[in-house]
Amino acid sequence: MLKQACPEEILKQVQNDTFRVQHDMLRLDIREERMRKMYNIAVIPGDGTGPEVVAEGLKVLKAVSEKFKFKYHLEHFDLGGERYLETRETLPDSVLEELKGMDVIYLGAIGHPEVRPGILEKGILLTIRFQLDQYINLRPIKLYPGVETPLKDKKPEDIDFIVVRENTEGAYLGAGGLFKKGTPDEIAIQEAIHTRKGVERCIRFAFEYCRKRNRKKKVTLCGKTNVLTYAFDLWERAFHEVAKEFEGIETDYAHVDAICMWMVKNPEWFDVIVTDNMFGDIITDLGAMIQGGLGIAAGGNINPNGVSMFEPMGGSAPKYTGKGVVSPLAAISACQMMLEHLGEEEAARKIEGAIMKVVRHDVKSLTAGKMGYTTSEVGDLVVKYINKK
Ligand code: IPM
Ligand code: MN
Repeated sequence: MLKQACPEEILKQVQNDTFRVQHDMLRLDIREERMRKMYNIAVIPGDGTGPEVVAEGLKVLKAVSEKFKFKYHLEHFDLGGERYLETRETLPDSVLEELKGMDVIYLGAIGHPEVRPGILEKGILLTIRFQLDQYINLRPIKLYPGVETPLKDKKPEDIDFIVVRENTEGAYLGAGGLFKKGTPDEIAIQEAIHTRKGVERCIRFAFEYCRKRNRKKKVTLCGKTNVLTYAFDLWERAFHEVAKEFEGIETDYAHVDAICMWMVKNPEWFDVIVTDNMFGDIITDLGAMIQGGLGIAAGGNINPNGVSMFEPMGGSAPKYTGKGVVSPLAAISACQMMLEHLGEEEAARKIEGAIMKVVRHDVKSLTAGKMGYTTSEVGDLVVKYINKK
């Protein structure tokens, strides 16, 4: 005789089965989720136009993460001028510790018109660079088709090189002091400190980068061996010694003043330029101009074994703050570099492709207020090209 199950038993069985199926599906989901990479990203929008351009970079990040199926978690930090004016804090130790635990940092801009120059720059930007040992400042100088360069007759194929700037030493270390301040006998000392280890690791990074880069395979050392005869003696010796490890890479040297001429007259000569902190700071502003301005120039503060930080090169541009007129492409480009650094190469390439379309077909100029679109509309255009088949 068939045993008839009572309604309660059937219900129980159905519930059990449903539960098992749900449970199995959940396990599959979890497994799939685990296989996807997850990045912890610290976001420091900072001052002035920083927050506006970072918002566009994050919009683009969201779009590529959906397309290329990676996940991220954002942690916002309110470092900058406003926080300093309220609390007199630049970068509290606890925040520094939190930053050390992230995968990467995405930065807008640091610099506030009501805060004396140096306080925020040294207290936040340079402290992060030094404390996280981001010993490379990587700054690509690349002219995209459709972008205007002030260099007459130069084309995208002529302007495509990268500056590897030492980022933790030299004059930036802050060694020195003021003596007898405010008296006629006052002395100001500002020392530049170069260590063999610091110089060598920077030069080695430049050669390694050059080996990977699909260009001319040439590294140019930019220095001032005719005047800074101690510092650049060390740089030059280290340069030639490291070069021996890299067969097939051509080496060259240019004084910093001369390189400013050549970057204008013959930018096509360059592939990778390696230089110290101060010279790197100066020549990369020149570089930014020949690639179309600060609206497009981005850079990465790299610690190859630690936490790196990516930022647009333009500052906080206080006079444009909140107007929605500055180009977000530099910040979007910084996002691209950040993804490349994280190993999301496809996503990075997609962003670059979209930026190239926007500068070619849409924006009239990269100058603030002359784009023909608002900051946020330019971000939308980049997203549109990312989502297009
Ligand atoms: C840069 C900036 C910084 C620098 C300033 C803001 C301290 O000019 O990132 O190039 O000099 O490094
Ligand atoms: Mn600079």
